[in-house]
Amino acid sequence: MKAVVYEGPRQVNVERVPDARVERPTDVLVRVTTSNICGSDLHMYEGRTDFEAGRVLGHENLGEVIEIGSAVDRVRVGDMVCIPFNIACGSCGNCEKGLTAYCLTTNPEPGMAGAAYGFADLGPYSGGQAELLRVPYGDFNCLVLPEDAKERQNDYVMLSDILPTGWHATRLARMEAGDSVVIYGAGPVGLMAAYSAVLRSAGKVMIVDRHPDRLAKAEEIGAIPIDDSQVSPVDQVMELTQGLGADCGCECVGFQAHDPQGHEHPNMTLNDLVRSVKFTGTIGVVGVFVPSDPGSPDDLYKLGEIAFDYGMFWFKGQTMGNGQCNVKSYNRQLCTLIHEGRARPSWVVSQELNLDEAPDGYEHFDRRDHGWTKVVIHPGELG
Ligand SMILES: NC(=O)c1ccc[n+]([C@@H]2O[C@H](COP(=O)([O-])OP(=O)(O)OC[C@H]3O[C@@H](n4cnc5c(N)ncnc54)[C@H](O)[C@@H]3O)[C@@H](O)[C@H]2O)c1
Ligand SMILES: [Zn+2]
Ligand SMILES: [Zn+2]
Repeated sequence: MKAVVYEGPRQVNVERVPDARVERPTDVLVRVTTSNICGSDLHMYEGRTDFEAGRVLGHENLGEVIEIGSAVDRVRVGDMVCIPFNIACGSCGNCEKGLTAYCLTTNPEPGMAGAAYGFADLGPYSGGQAELLRVPYGDFNCLVLPEDAKERQNDYVMLSDILPTGWHATRLARMEAGDSVVIYGAGPVGLMAAYSAVLRSAGKVMIVDRHPDRLAKAEEIGAIPIDDSQVSPVDQVMELTQGLGADCGCECVGFQAHDPQGHEHPNMTLNDLVRSVKFTGTIGVVGVFVPSDPGSPDDLYKLGEIAFDYGMFWFKGQTMGNGQCNVKSYNRQLCTLIHEGRARPSWVVSQELNLDEAPDGYEHFDRRDHGWTKVVIHPGELG
């Protein structure tokens, strides 16, 4: 099969690799029809993780089931399925509690929890930017989509990661109806956090970034754009909240946060959140941070440590939640919102490419080129 293979920093190629196949009785084999490039892929693409050369990328996948293992009985050949980026067993202590991002059995590394497709440190699993994808524990992991799935793939594929993750950000931030919320980052995840906040009846949604095209997308759904290359985002949030700060905040940037001039400061968004969220407010962090980052220009962060303004965080009595999203906690309900026409997350899609165009897509999306908000790849046509 053809697949997007990571070769080294800023180098991915479309290559022939051995076909994905059913390896265990609980596996499902999917012919991938839609797979997205994610900001998480970019941390790997840029060589800022220990993602191994030769591995296939892609954790935001949707497609058609073409084969099932002998122990699969819910999912059927021919089903259109959207697959959470988390690979979970469904029966360990964490999975039983819904914490599928921290499954205790699918990551073979001792002492580690959590697995994903084509992802650094999250197990050996191949990604879905490929013609075929092996889905372990298929009955548990596949979300079988409604009958309009084939026509609305660009909506449903967002259930694999960014829509649940944006929703999760607002849940970690304990956002309630009527609350004001500030979101750092207007990439696909930040946009989905803003969208989720709107769907969950936020009183005011403010979003910080410096890319006018991304801020314009946020404005389309009623968020207030804050361009931090023009103004101080903290001052702006204070002004918009009568000097109190936002009720809650979401971090949707991660460890490669940088200033508008491009210099990385891994503590920047976290400290801006502490300053722009009110006393007793809550902060949800879904942007990825890693245990060590030898390539960081910040000496502390080379060891995974952050110069976090803990004094002010404590003084303000704030709370913080963080981590990978447990996609299965939300994807079924969000699927209903899409099916019923209440949510249309495909509004973030800016490019649809075929598999051979993926390397070009990586290059543009990585540069955050104007008009490259969210790239969707279609490895296969529908049968
Ligand atoms: N927790 C999860 O489950 C989960 C799931 C998906 C993605 N992620 C992570 O979410 C993060 C965002 O993903 P994305 O796809 O939106 O990526 P992205 O890189 O395209 O978007 C990040 C945006 O943040 C902006 N930004 C950078 N520094 C900033 C700053 N100091 N202040 C405000 N904005 C700033 C950038 O201009 C960019 O538009 C990544 O770290 C990704 O790995 C986490
Ligand atoms: Zn993703
Ligand atoms: Zn598990």
